[in-house]
Amino acid sequence: MSFSNNNKIIYGSAGFGMPAYGFSSSNNPSSGNYLNYIYDLGIRHIDTASSYGLAEKKIGEYHRKNKKKFNIWTKVDGLSSNSHYTIDKIFKSLKSSIEKTNVDFFECLYLHQNNIEIIEDKFVQKGLEAVKNHGFANNTGVSIYNDSELKSALSIDVFNVVQLPVSVVNTHLYKIAQTNAKKKILVARSIFLQGVLLNVESFNKKFNYYEEIHSVVNVLKELAYSYNIDYLAMLVAYVNSLDDLDYIIVSSKNAQNIKNIIQKSTYKLCENVKSIINEISYKENNWTNPRNWIV
Ligand SMILES: NC(=O)c1ccc[n+]([C@@H]2O[C@H](COP(=O)([O-])OP(=O)(O)OC[C@H]3O[C@@H](n4cnc5c(N)ncnc54)[C@H](OP(=O)(O)O)[C@@H]3O)[C@@H](O)[C@H]2O)c1
Repeated sequence: MSFSNNNKIIYGSAGFGMPAYGFSSSNNPSSGNYLNYIYDLGIRHIDTASSYGLAEKKIGEYHRKNKKKFNIWTKVDGLSSNSHYTIDKIFKSLKSSIEKTNVDFFECLYLHQNNIEIIEDKFVQKGLEAVKNHGFANNTGVSIYNDSELKSALSIDVFNVVQLPVSVVNTHLYKIAQTNAKKKILVARSIFLQGVLLNVESFNKKFNYYEEIHSVVNVLKELAYSYNIDYLAMLVAYVNSLDDLDYIIVSSKNAQNIKNIIQKSTYKLCENVKSIINEISYKENNWTNPRNWIV
């Protein structure tokens, strides 16, 4: 499967809404009308959240001025477990996101919290089911970070979408999701490990896993060089070669960077390179989970 046909791409808007977010190449967003720009690149989906700074508001401003709409995947946050208020809270957040983004319904409403007691909470599940039944979202999902959250999400019917981190250094979770009996829509995020696979050198002084990540980045760059492949193209092509992923989130607030990602997404890896990367990415490491990072 290729995402040269851009239907598989979702634009991740965390950095767009909060320029200081992640390990970016720069904190200066490209100027001009960025959402028009990414629409013209062929992108039709946006991943956002009520907690992504100005992202939902800026999407709404775009939608008010343009007939060409994006499919929006947003998230609800701040829920407590075992609370009768939960369903009302979900609908309040949903309505606020609908108003801000100026859409009638969402492609997906995710639960933004990934702790098990929230994922498994009956009120949360009932609330998300009601959102779907009322036609406010085509899909409902959860975004996870580790094995136990993933296994819980995979076992619960209301979550028909699971968003998970997948990259050249982390296919451990993807492998678990792939073997799940119930079919879920799998959405890959953090394909550059929040940007560190591209920009780790800029963060050396403040980062607890600098040595581990820097060393694997060197191995990967060496591999790309020895096979005469562009490094960025290799990172993108690897994730793109994982056939059970339904969508891939790509993210940059820089016009040239996002264009490069889209252009390089047509690249196909040879089996040799893919199997060398498999050896790296199948291993489970603490440093691939940003929740363990001290920056
Ligand atoms: N639900 C959740 O819990 C959750 C968690 C994390 C992320 N997300 C979603 O997933 C999206 C992506 O997340 P992520 O930040 O982890 O993504 P990522 O795709 O691993 O990394 C994005 C970072 O890579 C940098 N980058 C992209 N292309 C580059 C290039 N050509 N050269 C140098 N740097 C480049 C970007 O910086 P520039 O902007 O400077 O290009 C950006 O900071 C988010 O926006 C959000 O929508 C969801």
